[in-house]
Amino acid sequence: MAGTVKMHERRARVCAVRRRLAQGGPPRTRNFEADFETVTVPERVCDQLRDLLISEGAQTVVEVGLAYASSALAIGEALITVDPPSPRHVIVDPFQERDWSNAGWELMCSAGLDSIASLMLTPSSIALPQLLTEGLVADAAFVDGSHRFHEVFVDLYFLRKIVRPGGLIVIDDDWAPSVRTAVHYYEQNLGWAEIPDAFPSETVPTAGTSRRAEPRTRCKALRLPDPSFEPPFEEFHAF
Ligand SMILES: C[S@@+](CC[C@H](N)C(=O)[O-])C[C@H]1O[C@@H](n2cnc3c(N)ncnc32)[C@H](O)[C@@H]1O
Repeated sequence: MAGTVKMHERRARVCAVRRRLAQGGPPRTRNFEADFETVTVPERVCDQLRDLLISEGAQTVVEVGLAYASSALAIGEALITVDPPSPRHVIVDPFQERDWSNAGWELMCSAGLDSIASLMLTPSSIALPQLLTEGLVADAAFVDGSHRFHEVFVDLYFLRKIVRPGGLIVIDDDWAPSVRTAVHYYEQNLGWAEIPDAFPSETVPTAGTSRRAEPRTRCKALRLPDPSFEPPFEEFHAF
């Protein structure tokens, strides 16, 4: 009973920080127009991410890309709601200090989430193999770091070995060709299966001169096969 009350209190604290962030923005931003709105994952998408992780009963989550922490706070809320004995949230972002003046990590601390989260200030291509070597096993990962094809591909390469068989990998900005193409490799060749309707597609303006509104998927949730397998190289499917 006391534990449940404590969980509700901790969750209320996270919710309050999430609400303030969504309504008033972060304590500071980079000097770009509408930087917060452009960079951060919108609140309703964060809610969908939170609900998915809760329904999965996630206890350990790896996240790539902290920035303004909208997604990190939602992941933290999910972990606190699931309330396992040892929740763990490992966040990787080499530029949190340099580019974001620690705005995201400060929000995580004010929500009390530094008790379950750790931040690695290294590129994911260095941090993820390190976590693998340490033997970390995660239930899920959220990927919103570098959007370059080769860096997303490498993130997914290592996360596939860190996230347990049957676990989840959620990728942001799946509408971007660089991201989508990297994800396609794993779907076509390694048995990753999209979880339909986890993130309903929405109508957003398309970048470019016409600014036409087109439905597009922002986040995509994929389930890893269980058991995991390594395909013969002769069975390569172009992606
Ligand atoms: C789109 S932002 C993430 C937004 C965040 N999910 C939010 O809701 O505010 C992308 C982040 O990826 C980070 N990043 C860029 N290259 C990276 C890399 N190689 N490894 C890890 N993170 C990286 C950037 O510093 C930035 O914080």
